[in-house]
Formats: sequence, C-alpha cells, structure tokens
Amino acid sequence: MNLNRRGFLIISGSAIAVASLPFVARAGEKLKIGMIGSGRVGSALGNALVLAGHEVMFSSRHLEDDQSLAESIGAGASAGTPREAAAFGDVLFVAVPYSALPDVGEDLADLIKGKVIIDACNPFPNRDGEIADWAREKGAGLASAELLPGALIVRAFNAIGSARMGAAYQEPGAVGMPIAGDDAEAVAVASGLIRDIGYEPVLIGGLEMGRHLIPGTPLAGEHSAEEIRQIAAGLE
Ligand SMILES: NC(=O)c1ccc[n+]([C@@H]2O[C@H](COP(=O)([O-])OP(=O)(O)OC[C@H]3O[C@@H](n4cnc5c(N)ncnc54)[C@H](OP(=O)(O)O)[C@@H]3O)[C@@H](O)[C@H]2O)c1
Repeated sequence: MNLNRRGFLIISGSAIAVASLPFVARAGEKLKIGMIGSGRVGSALGNALVLAGHEVMFSSRHLEDDQSLAESIGAGASAGTPREAAAFGDVLFVAVPYSALPDVGEDLADLIKGKVIIDACNPFPNRDGEIADWAREKGAGLASAELLPGALIVRAFNAIGSARMGAAYQEPGAVGMPIAGDDAEAVAVASGLIRDIGYEPVLIGGLEMGRHLIPGTPLAGEHSAEEIRQIAAGLE
C-alpha cells in the first residue's frame, strides 16, 4: 500500500486507528467500486475509474439512468440500486447532495459498516437546507461520519469541478488531491484509487480536518501536491 505516512505523521500529528478491512487492497489491484450517486461527480469519477481498469456499479434512485450511463461507458461499468452497488463495492464513493446523506446512511446501514467510503459530498445551505448548517458547524468530515455510521470515511474530490475530474490521468501526479480520514488503511485504499485516476493524494489529517475540504476554502481548486502541503501546514 502506498500511504504517505510521512505527510500523515507530520500534518496530522495524531495517531490514526487502523481497522481491519474486509479485503486487502494491494497496489495496482483492480477493485469493485460501488458508486452511490451518478450525477456529475459520480459519472465523471466512475468513468475515470473504469478507464483505470476498475469495475464500477453506478446507482441512484433512477436505475434506468444508471443503466444508460453504464451502457455508454461499456465494459467494466454496470448499474444497480444503491443497495446493490453498496453490496458490490469493495470501496464505495458517495456523490449525492448532502441533504440525501441521512437517507443513504439509513438505507445502506447494514452494508457500509467497515467499508471504505470516499465522500465527495458538500453541504450547501442554499441547496441542502438546515443539515448543511449543522454539517458546516461540525465540519463536513465528522458530519459525514455521523450520517454514515461504521463506514471508514475518506473525504476527497470535494472542491474541484466535476468537469475536470476525468482529466487528471492526462498528466499523472500534476494535480494534488487533498484528503482527510481517520483510518490509515482506508486512507491507503483511497490514495491508491486517487492515484489510479491521475491525482497525487495528500493527506491533510484526520476527518476533523475534513472541514477544510469544501468549496471556498484555501484548499479548493487545483493545486500541486506541494502547494497543498504548504496550504495545509498553515491551516488551524
Ligand atoms: N458538481 C461538482 O463540480 C462537484 C464537485 C465536488 C463535489 N461535489 C459534491 O458532490 C455531490 C454530488 O454532486 P453532483 O454535482 O454530482 O450532483 P448531481 O449531478 O445532482 O448528482 C447527484 C446524484 O445523486 C443521486 N441521488 C440523489 N439523492 C439520492 C439518494 N437518496 N440515494 C441515491 N442517489 C441519490 C442523483 O440521482 P437521482 O436524483 O436520480 O437519485 C444523482 O445521480 C454534492 O454533494 C456536491 O456538492 C460536486
């Protein structure tokens, strides 16, 4: 596994619990990915992950949309209900409006315990209502962990435009991806997938630091890995 342990130790400054995962992901291993939410972010990331050789099952509340999307991508892509995608995935991506997270957490409760979830969701008060105010006050990483209990959450892909998410592979490693997570194994698995689609992952700390991974913060937008380390070093 390819964990940036040095950056992790320096930046987070605290111990991160290592939970045992239901599978062992080795560098370069092709994984099954369950995509919960297949809109702009879910479809862009899912497409990039299929191009990288992973198998992706897309899901939303409209199976027919996911079937069309999977057909347009071709081999490696499939469609299912959110429960089917959650059961299919070694790793899950969640890319839904923040206001949908309580339902997602409840509907998938038995399937997400102990699973790595890469959380791209952002709380926007004007779109998501009161839950966004709560999440922003608590910090988006800790809030997502509360809404998706038992999952090993890694926040990532929160503050770059979906239109760019499928482009990083053209210049591998040129753009950094700030991430936050409490579980070292989950961070390692997420880092591998992030690298697979062309980004250089930079762990800025535990889930508590996820509050910095939303649009409108200094880490938002595209930065090199080194720039992200410098910005993260100045965050409180
Ligand atoms: N757009 C960006 O550039 C961008 C960048 C970074 C992060 N984000 C964040 O990523 C998340 C997704 O953004 P997006 O732009 O991809 O939104 P989007 O295009 O509106 O897609 C949202 C997806 O979630 C699905 N969905 C909604 N409620 C659901 C539920 N209860 N269960 C399962 N699926 C559900 C929707 O499909 P159905 O309605 O058919 O269920 C749709 O597939 C948001 O939190 C956003 O803030 C967006």
